[in-house]
Amino acid sequence: MSTVAVILAAGLGTRMKSRLPKVLHPILGDPSLLWVLRALPSDLGGAVVVVHHGKEQVERAIGAWQTAGLLPCPISTVDQGVPLGTGHALQACIPELDRLGAGQVVILCGDVPLTTPGTVQRLCASEALLLAMDLQTPGAYGRVLQHPDGRLAGLVEAKDATPEQLAVQRVNGGAYSLPWPALRLALLGLTNDNAQREYYLTDAVVGVAREIPVAVEVCEPEELAGMNSRHDQAALQAAAQRRIERHWMAEGVTFLHPGSILVGPRVHLHQDVILEPGVRLEGAVVVGEGTQIGQGTVITDSTLGPGVEVRPYCVIERALVGEGSKVGPFARLREGTELAEKVHIGNFVETKKAKLQRGAKANHLAYLGDTEVGEGTNIGAGVITCNYDGVNKHRTLIGRNVFIGSDTQLVAPLVIGDGVLIGAGSTITKDVPADALALSRAPQVNREGGAPRLRTRQRKGTGLS
Ligand code: UD1
Ligand code: MG
Repeated sequence: MSTVAVILAAGLGTRMKSRLPKVLHPILGDPSLLWVLRALPSDLGGAVVVVHHGKEQVERAIGAWQTAGLLPCPISTVDQGVPLGTGHALQACIPELDRLGAGQVVILCGDVPLTTPGTVQRLCASEALLLAMDLQTPGAYGRVLQHPDGRLAGLVEAKDATPEQLAVQRVNGGAYSLPWPALRLALLGLTNDNAQREYYLTDAVVGVAREIPVAVEVCEPEELAGMNSRHDQAALQAAAQRRIERHWMAEGVTFLHPGSILVGPRVHLHQDVILEPGVRLEGAVVVGEGTQIGQGTVITDSTLGPGVEVRPYCVIERALVGEGSKVGPFARLREGTELAEKVHIGNFVETKKAKLQRGAKANHLAYLGDTEVGEGTNIGAGVITCNYDGVNKHRTLIGRNVFIGSDTQLVAPLVIGDGVLIGAGSTITKDVPADALALSRAPQVNREGGAPRLRTRQRKGTGLS
């Protein structure tokens, strides 16, 4: 008999006012549901996500996370059909939980992203436990009623509660661990005889509590806070950010202006990293020791080695940046960029599927796409790899210690040998052998005294002709 998690995610999320299903709204770049799934332990017998509204989008997202290896255990989905309450959601899971041979069921909500893996672990290790929180203003949450010894005695939804029950400040966090046979039995007896005409999971939990003791653990409210509105989303993101900041500061990372810096949950920062104001790091990002990320830089799914200097206002996506490289200001490294050690990428340089070997430099205003650049090669200002002929992409292979003069167009496919020198302003369309000097320029004409003559003609309106 194994422990299986059930994640409730079929609700509409009306108050988000969005086409995107609520559980796919991001907190620091990762959707709420991904936070929940990633907090699950890896030794579960599986996890079942209950879906309905936005089912296709949610299933597509789960598939992509699975492919990317982001999920700790196998995930299946169950379509609840028109959602008739949290109890109805669990009823819809009965065949799937039976199929998975569930002995113990852990129930979480897909819109409660900040429950820590430690708390989920404790839930999984308990036989019968409900997570609660103590709130000054308990609002619409269900109220937790306890026996004098602390065991669960009852759960009352705010809409069904008496004034005395409404005054209770201990509320149901909606996360439970229960033995499946007992819960299954209780689910079969549910009715919707309540203010909301819903099948309440809470009624089934209380049903189980009549048979066996169900413990109540009080958690930090942040761990059980749900995302029901854009305001909740912003508050959860701020809470997640504080948690992540605290963690990395303790690991020796400087946040120069914490309130403005966003660091996602899958980011790994090494000691002495410095993050300047307005930096955003999302997805799987690794930043090596002593690397400094300049103000306003956005980095997604990338690895930066140690001692890298990213100057302000760069955008780096699915790229590798080698040790001691310098990037920016205002550089854009796109997918498939690989910089070896000590590479310089300067201002207004865009790279895509570009491999630059050790010490290569492109310091100003260049586009390098579908290209390999050898060790020590210098790419001048305004150089463009013309990689796209309107139909196909072609590659430009540039050797070692090449000098490419400013404003050169390299019309791919092209191979430039080692040690080549290309004169500024050239349009290179043919391969260049090693050590050759390549030039392609229209001959220059100097007409003595031509400038005043032209100006006179321009004033008469006859111009250059
Ligand atoms: C539920 C609890 C309440 C608790 C609160 C904590 C019940 C009856 N009440 O409130 O005691 O304080 O959670 O957040 O369980 N969902 C489905 N299918 C449905 C209904 C809901 O999948 O038919 C999902 C929602 O998408 C959401 C989660 O279940 O992820 C909780 O639903 P929500 O409506 O937010 O909670 P309440 O029922 O109001
Ligand atoms: Mg509800």
